Amino acid sequence: MTAEDRSAGPPGPGAGVGPAAGADPRRPMLAVRRLVKSYGDVEAVRGVSFDVHSGEVVVIIGPSGCGKSTTLRCINLLEEPTGGTLRLDDRELDFSARRTLPSGRDLARFRARFGMVFQQFDLFAHKTAIENVMIGQTVVRKVPRQRAHRESRDLLRRVGLEGMEDRRPRELSGGQQQRVAIARALAMSPEVLLFDEVTSALDPELVGEVLEVMKDLAREGATMVVVTHEMAFARDVADRVIFMDQGQVVEEGTATELMESPGNPRTRTFLARYHRGTQESAGREGG
Ligand SMILES: Nc1ncnc2c1ncn2[C@@H]1O[C@H](COP(=O)(O)OP(=O)(O)OP(=O)(O)O)[C@@H](O)[C@H]1O
Ligand SMILES: [Mg+2]
Repeated sequence: MTAEDRSAGPPGPGAGVGPAAGADPRRPMLAVRRLVKSYGDVEAVRGVSFDVHSGEVVVIIGPSGCGKSTTLRCINLLEEPTGGTLRLDDRELDFSARRTLPSGRDLARFRARFGMVFQQFDLFAHKTAIENVMIGQTVVRKVPRQRAHRESRDLLRRVGLEGMEDRRPRELSGGQQQRVAIARALAMSPEVLLFDEVTSALDPELVGEVLEVMKDLAREGATMVVVTHEMAFARDVADRVIFMDQGQVVEEGTATELMESPGNPRTRTFLARYHRGTQESAGREGG
């Protein structure tokens, strides 16, 4: 099974990059292969391949417009890929051969196995925190209200919002709203969590509390793909870091490998900006 899987890796732009390739004998939980997404003439994603193992945290970094969000949105089928394959566990979808595309119902089932958290948390403004967490359970999954309420309360406690169940979004800080959005994603029991710059819209002093929740999830063994500009988070939490540029995976490795000794000049240029930024803010804190 694993041998077949390893040999199935095509010589795409992202394949075979970094020393981690093949180091883990387990079959990856999520396999992205030669993923392509075009919008007319714009090739947002141009043959992206990577693996995510169960319990792993994979962080994707890269300059604005390089295709990070599009990659995440293709993985959970918010966008229909133009080409490539996605495999989650035993279910594989092939977007190169249109005739084999599954039914809308199958796509919905595949999508439901992912939980996604966005930069803009998009909570229902007129619903309380707990109602926002419950709604997917009661409406989509038909979980009885009482059970959904109990589970949602537990989830809100897990993201540090005990006692705030009945507040509406406008009565919560941005960081608290984002934690409600994380609880809402968790409520659907996703197998893989996708985070797209979830702290980018927050005031700086609120970023830490959201990253702490994400760190807790990682410690508890959640499988996560995280697009972020928080380099310290990537360094602390990522099992692997992927650097993307111009719709492709340029380089992939452990956080230490990729961030301390990047092999590709494009990765070095990108990181140099952040190292400067970090030193500046460290200087401010120290002074
Ligand atoms: N719906 C769309 N229609 C046309 N082009 C799009 C669409 N969505 C994204 N693009 C283009 O695809 C490319 C990749 O966009 P994407 O949002 O994935 O980048 P990103 O890496 O997430 O950038 P950022 O760091 O700014 O969020 C960009 O050139 C973008 O303009
Ligand atoms: Mg983006």
